[in-house]
Amino acid sequence: MESRIQMPLLVVLLFALVSGGLSLTFTFKNNCSYTVWPGTLAGSDSAQLSSTGFELASGASNSINASSGWSGRFWGRTYCSSSTGSFKCETADCGSGQVACNGAGAVPPATLAEFAVASNNAEQEYYDVSLVDGFNLPLSVTPQGGTGPCSSVGCLANINSVCPAELSVKGSNGSTIACKTACDAFGTDEYCCTGAYNTPQTCPQTNYSKIFKDQCPQTYSSPYDDQASTYICTGANYLITFCP
Ligand SMILES: *[C@@H]1O[C@H](CO)[C@@H](O)[C@H](O)[C@H]1NC(C)=O
Ligand SMILES: *[C@@H]1O[C@H](CO)[C@@H](O)[C@H](O)[C@H]1NC(C)=O
Ligand SMILES: *[C@@H]1O[C@H](CO)[C@@H](O)[C@H](O)[C@H]1NC(C)=O
Repeated sequence: MESRIQMPLLVVLLFALVSGGLSLTFTFKNNCSYTVWPGTLAGSDSAQLSSTGFELASGASNSINASSGWSGRFWGRTYCSSSTGSFKCETADCGSGQVACNGAGAVPPATLAEFAVASNNAEQEYYDVSLVDGFNLPLSVTPQGGTGPCSSVGCLANINSVCPAELSVKGSNGSTIACKTACDAFGTDEYCCTGAYNTPQTCPQTNYSKIFKDQCPQTYSSPYDDQASTYICTGANYLITFCP
C-alpha cells in the first residue's frame, strides 16, 4: 500500500529535477529616490511572466516567479503618468498605453538586464546588463544562491550626468533623463555596426561607445562587445536593483 503511493511521488520528483521544472524568483528593488515602473519582456521562446509591467515606489520591492529556462529582459521606465488619458513614460516607454507592457519592449534609450539559458544546458543562466539600447537609469543584477561564478553585474554610474549633448534626451523637467547610443542619434553604419561595419573587426569601439564602457565597464556597450560582459550562474534567484 505504502509503496504504491510513494513510487509515483518519486517519479514526479525525479522528473522535476531532470526536466528543470523548478522555478526561479526575480526580485525587483527600487533604490532610486523616484518611482520606477519595471517592464518585463520574454524572449521569443519563452512565455511572458505573470507581470509585464508594474509600479515600484522608491524603496519598494516586488517579486515575480519564472519557470527555470525562462529567457527575456527587464528595464525600468521613469517619469511616467496617465495625465494624457493613457499611461506613458518619458523614458523606456513600451507604447502599450498601460502599466503592463503586454509583450512590447522598451523604446530606447533603456538600460537592460538580459537573461538567457544555454541551449545545451537548461539549468545554466546567462545574464548581462546591456547599454546597447542606451542608458536611462543605473541598474544591477545580483544572483542569490546558485553555484558557479555568480557575480553581481551592473551599471552603477549615472551616465545621464556625463551624456554628450548630441546624445542627450531631455525630460519635461529640462534635465537629461536618458542617453542615446550614437547609432540611435546618428544612424550611420559606423555607429550601428551595419553595412561594411557588420563584423567585430570592422566595428571597433567608438568615442561614443567608449563613454558608456568607461562609465560602466561590466556592461555590453556595443553590438560586438567582448564576451566578458556576459555572466553565468546555475540555479540562482536574481535581485534586480534600480539605482544600486
Ligand atoms: C514564488 O516562488 C517561491 C519559492 O518557490 C514561493 O515561495 C512563492 O510562493 C512563489 N510566489 C508566487 C506568487 O507564486
Ligand atoms: C566623436 O567623434 C566624432 C567624429 O570624429 C566627432 O565629430 C565628435 O565630436 C566626437 N564626440 C565626442 C563626444 O568625442
Ligand atoms: C541605495 O542607494 C544608496 C545611495 O543612494 C546607497 O548608499 C545604498 O548602498 C543603496 N542600497 C542598495 C541596497 O543598493
